[in-house]
Amino acid sequence: MSKKSKLLAFPSTLSLLTALLVSINTLGQELETGGTLRSAAQAQGFLVGASAELKPLGTDPAYAQTLAREYNVLTAANAMKFEPLRPTRSRFAFADADKILDFAAAHGMKLRGHTLVWHDQLPRWLVDGNFSSDEVSAILREHIETVIGHYRGRVYAWDVVNEAIDDQGGLRQTFWSNMLGSDYIAQAFTLARAADPQATLLYNDYGGEALGVKSEAIYGLLKSLKGRGVPIDGIGLQSHFLLEQPPRMSEVAANIRRLAALGLEIQITELDVRMLMPQNEKKLEDQAQIYRAYLDACLVVANCNTFVTWGFTDKYSWIPQFFPGNGAALPFDQAYRQKPAYHALLQALNNSHRR
Ligand code: XIL
Repeated sequence: MSKKSKLLAFPSTLSLLTALLVSINTLGQELETGGTLRSAAQAQGFLVGASAELKPLGTDPAYAQTLAREYNVLTAANAMKFEPLRPTRSRFAFADADKILDFAAAHGMKLRGHTLVWHDQLPRWLVDGNFSSDEVSAILREHIETVIGHYRGRVYAWDVVNEAIDDQGGLRQTFWSNMLGSDYIAQAFTLARAADPQATLLYNDYGGEALGVKSEAIYGLLKSLKGRGVPIDGIGLQSHFLLEQPPRMSEVAANIRRLAALGLEIQITELDVRMLMPQNEKKLEDQAQIYRAYLDACLVVANCNTFVTWGFTDKYSWIPQFFPGNGAALPFDQAYRQKPAYHALLQALNNSHRR
């Protein structure tokens, strides 16, 4: 062999080897993480989603593209709350929420309604209005009828009542409970059913995912509501988890099973797994394991049919502002790169056998 051909032979062997390695790697990656969350969920008849904010939807193309590519269900993170929808007692402001609805509809995504009755994000005209109980009752009725009516047939599920149980397992003392007594919960569900008989009606709360005093109280509340014939279809488990103190997944699984046994649908509605900053590879791997185990726990229960994260990119997460020193809670990083948590979710969906 001439010197020249030896020189030529080396790079060609190298490139062959490289090509082989690349193709093995690509193949491996495809098996592991092929497709999108959306296509993988669709194949399972499952809903995977995120909450969406209006502002980045209009200003940040990667935000809209990622949402539409990866998810088949959306929740408005803020636009459908009482305060933004009701600038004054007489005026309903649907424009912003409608834009989120339009985006979901344009991309063939379902939309969850969040939320009708909550103690937070209420307008001043309501809480400082010195209304009588009868007036508050009428305002609540009008709110539920008008909002659900506006979205009838377009919002398929509602978080009717949000966070009504406190962290000690008692009825949370709120504007609503103070004005209307504990029965406001049952009243809200009854009004919601009348306003849209087709919609799935959920009770939504945080901190009741694993076993304990709060999940016990929530379970008891839902059982008694069902027992009284109050029209409630499901429970939303918000799931704002901490990496350093995650719930025990065996307990979460047991809780999901007992809720399903009540005949309730289970939706994971606001998952994020925050960590003490700075982030590092180990923390991101540990976080991915929590995402994976949680999705697995949902996928194995037929009644658990929806898995929604609170946002999807660390760029716009609520965590750094509400829990200073914490962050990196979501499956996409600030530059929309897929984190280990994303790959864990995709693998869990691809490996599931729901269908
Ligand atoms: C949060 C939003 O993400 C923030 O932008 C807003 O300032 C406060 O509310 N439980 C819920 C959600 O049900 O509505 C909350 O969303 C997070 C906790």
